[in-house]
Amino acid sequence: MPGAQDLRNRPCGGRYGDLVQSIGNTPLIELKRLSPKPGVRIWAKLESRNPTGSVKDRVARAMIEDAEERGAIAPGQTILEPTSGNTGISLAMICSRKGYRVKVVMPENVTPERTELLRMYGAEIVYSPGGEGSNGAVAMALEMAQSDASYYMPYQYGNAANPLAHYNGTAPEILEELDEISAFVAGLGTGGTLMGVGRRLKEEMPDVQIVAAEPMQGEPVQGLRSLDDGFIPPIIDLALLDRKIFVRNRDAIIWTRRLLEEEGLFAGVSSGAIASIAVRIAGELDEGNIVFIVCDDGWKYLSSGLYSKPVDELADLDSTVWW
Ligand SMILES: Cc1ncc(COP(=O)(O)O)c(C=O)c1O
Repeated sequence: MPGAQDLRNRPCGGRYGDLVQSIGNTPLIELKRLSPKPGVRIWAKLESRNPTGSVKDRVARAMIEDAEERGAIAPGQTILEPTSGNTGISLAMICSRKGYRVKVVMPENVTPERTELLRMYGAEIVYSPGGEGSNGAVAMALEMAQSDASYYMPYQYGNAANPLAHYNGTAPEILEELDEISAFVAGLGTGGTLMGVGRRLKEEMPDVQIVAAEPMQGEPVQGLRSLDDGFIPPIIDLALLDRKIFVRNRDAIIWTRRLLEEEGLFAGVSSGAIASIAVRIAGELDEGNIVFIVCDDGWKYLSSGLYSKPVDELADLDSTVWW
């Protein structure tokens, strides 16, 4: 029987003046069962442990506080953002704390949990055509911002505060825990995580491989984008990526389930996609640490049934979009 001392979790998560200040400082968890070799250690950076359950809390806070510092926004103003969910949910929570209104543009076919979460934090939702995916939401929001100057659009795809949130937050937290990192794997959405963490890690460890998990064109994974769809977010500098590896929708689902069943991690689908690439890289190395990002938790995907049915009973794994 462990004593009371052994059960105490150290270090504790810290003490903060409010919820927004508690963003970040997420745990790094070793996933021993996923490692193919004893010398290769796989670590998951649990961004799902942020206040709204995703990595985007860091980004939304950085973008809003940057706009505040520049005097670009004033309380009562409406913040407009195209987002397939997580950034909108984070913006909605943070802006409700700080006294801004939020309007998000997102594809109409996202899960009801997303709509519910956004409404819960007081955001207004404008739906873009589902078939046009996140590119359709981006186009619609840009058009709305151009025709009404009272909106402030942080625009995570082109806002330097997005990668900086990772350069100044996520990356130093990882560096505090590990002296050596052979590879860092993250999904390619806006590219903010890969750019910010990638740049900082390479400054400290020039040999680290920065690896992007990119969905196959036509096989959308929630939160990720295929650069072959024709839109390269302005914050992306492709020269910073050592590798870009395609991931199939099928593997994203299978690995989301493996994270749950083998490691107890209840993560979103993009984390499964990223884990599949991290394990593949692990198979190529003889030793070293691999860090990958768990972008969000599974709650928003629960209604899809993806976590409870046997994998071979799930609907067509190649083409179903798990929003
Ligand atoms: C669930 C999820 N995974 C991955 C990503 C990709 O992260 P980034 O935008 O930093 O490339 C996002 C971002 O939208 C996301 O919401």
